[in-house]
Amino acid sequence: MDDLIFLGIESSCDDTAAAVVTGDRRILSSVVSSQADLHADFGGVVPEIAARAHAERLDLAVEQALARAGLGLRDLSGIAVTAGPGLIGGVMAGVMCAKGLAAGAGLPLVGVNHLAGHALTPRLTDGVGFPYLMLLVSGGHCQFLRVDGPDDFTRMGGTIDDAPGEAFDKIARLLGLPQPGGPHVEAEARAGDALRFALPRPLLDRPGCDMSFSGLKTAVLRQRDALVAAQGGLHGADRRDLCAGFQAAVADVLAEKTRRALVAAPVPVIAVAGGVAANGAIRAALEQVAARAGARFLAPPLVLCTDNGAMIAWAGIERFRAGHRDGMDLAARPRWPL
Ligand code: KG4
Ligand code: ZN
Repeated sequence: MDDLIFLGIESSCDDTAAAVVTGDRRILSSVVSSQADLHADFGGVVPEIAARAHAERLDLAVEQALARAGLGLRDLSGIAVTAGPGLIGGVMAGVMCAKGLAAGAGLPLVGVNHLAGHALTPRLTDGVGFPYLMLLVSGGHCQFLRVDGPDDFTRMGGTIDDAPGEAFDKIARLLGLPQPGGPHVEAEARAGDALRFALPRPLLDRPGCDMSFSGLKTAVLRQRDALVAAQGGLHGADRRDLCAGFQAAVADVLAEKTRRALVAAPVPVIAVAGGVAANGAIRAALEQVAARAGARFLAPPLVLCTDNGAMIAWAGIERFRAGHRDGMDLAARPRWPL
């Protein structure tokens, strides 16, 4: 095994992250500075605020990542950075930071696709071999990827409108729960009756692995409005039952589409990533589908499911091993399909 050590830098959304990872899958440090507090009042990530915060925080994140790993720049084999897709101001801040470090220390620079970072995480955490399936379910993404190599991804389907995390957040907003909504909706759902409201399972009648969550959100909105009109407001039980019904519908859709993905690509492992993978009911549903299909179900630790620098460092190592290098002309890309 080689003895590579990479610094990974991530700044494509609202987390400023840096981490040091080795070629034999050790995470020497991982620093994630969340900007959630900066965006909380706006009901979503504000690109201008995000870009400025990344620019201000990147140096410190890198410094801390190196210090916690007990290393200096000269101990590194290379620098990996998210070069897209994402909010362009944040991606540019990360790419500029990485270029400065690489040029200053004479280190190789490797640009990484953020989605490839998520998709290659099971190789870092569990050392899984190719091929495997990845279901990426976060606030911004929802897709099935068949992963055949460090640079070989096939998109098998995904959402045609909202990402599931986005839907969880919107449902929370509709019901007066705090943001980010996912954990609050899950907590309410725990004591709710998922069968009280008839909610749709969008696109299950259509073949393939595409999904839709926007109609489900509208259905919850209608039920809420009907309750408010009938009784002048929502009772605690209404909120719990709506959350439970919504979560069950999302879990059903994800489970059935995962079943189909495993039929279309009968691989030995299905892994999940993204914040929504934290949801216990969804995890349980996916685990069951995987077991029935005879596949191993892998859910990396949550801190590695959500945005982080370790996945970028690792993807950089995989790309570097495959011979990939970038120059000072590495561009930040707002869109970058895998
Ligand atoms: O991957 P992530 O941290 O950030 C990106 O979207 O890139 O995912 C955040 C999303 C939010 O929409 C949040 O509401 C959702 O993941 N989430 C959950 C849970 N925890 C976080 N959704 C459902 N159940 C949860 N327990
Ligand atoms: Zn992400």
